[in-house]
Amino acid sequence: MEDRFPVAKRAMWSGFAADDIMMSPLQRFWSKGRFALSRRLRRPVPGRFQPYIYTLPDRYPWLFRFARSALSDVPAPRLLSFGCSTGDELASLRHVFPQANIRGLDIAPSAIAGCRARFACDDRVSVAVAASTAGEPDESYDAVFCLAVLCHGDLTVSRARRSDPLFPFANFERAVADLARCVRPGGYLFIHTSNFRFCDTATAPLFETVLEAQPEQIAADLLYDRNNCLLEAMRYYPVGFRKRVS
Ligand SMILES: C[S@@+](CC[C@H](N)C(=O)[O-])C[C@H]1O[C@@H](n2cnc3c(N)ncnc32)[C@H](O)[C@@H]1O
Repeated sequence: MEDRFPVAKRAMWSGFAADDIMMSPLQRFWSKGRFALSRRLRRPVPGRFQPYIYTLPDRYPWLFRFARSALSDVPAPRLLSFGCSTGDELASLRHVFPQANIRGLDIAPSAIAGCRARFACDDRVSVAVAASTAGEPDESYDAVFCLAVLCHGDLTVSRARRSDPLFPFANFERAVADLARCVRPGGYLFIHTSNFRFCDTATAPLFETVLEAQPEQIAADLLYDRNNCLLEAMRYYPVGFRKRVS
């Protein structure tokens, strides 16, 4: 099965734009009101990108399949899931890479507590509460996964014309540069569901694009340019990047 979730449903479950066509007017009114209230009440967390921890088992089967085939010659790949939430992504990676050493980072202590309980018996899974990859060594991973993390659901819900101050491009660029630092030459960086395009970053020339998503595999999130301005009706499909060997 390629993808079990239609785009609109996936978007809604991610906490992004609840697709209007799926709701009655009353449901839409209730949903928008509840969402607006929770957005107002939510405490900002310094350094946090996506405030929603929604995740799913085997959420990106096509992407994980690609990674497995790309790393088929690495017996025990070192993998990093940045923004691993409560561990569904770690479980997917474990399933696809039975021999891998997997590290999961998330800014949410409750999510990491869930991961710890879930993977207590797997000594090749380690997790930590972290807001960035600053603590990870240079070129230490065969693949880094950053999936549905470098986006802010409220931008999509509010149809914001600018990404700042909620999520300025500079924060994306900084995060991407540090994720890239952790990838070994010849290794892979996967960035899926983000509010900006990897090709707009200063890091992009260090990588070649090796995987593009299909239109139905892209979430409903809005895209912004380097100046934080909305890119109207723009979709961006590259999601997998291989670090050049210089
Ligand atoms: C929508 S979930 C995505 C989970 C998983 N990667 C997936 O695609 O199913 C976004 C996750 O990113 C985490 N996150 C947001 N900002 C972060 C940051 N600065 N550092 C680490 N994790 C962060 C959130 O806590 C949340 O668990």
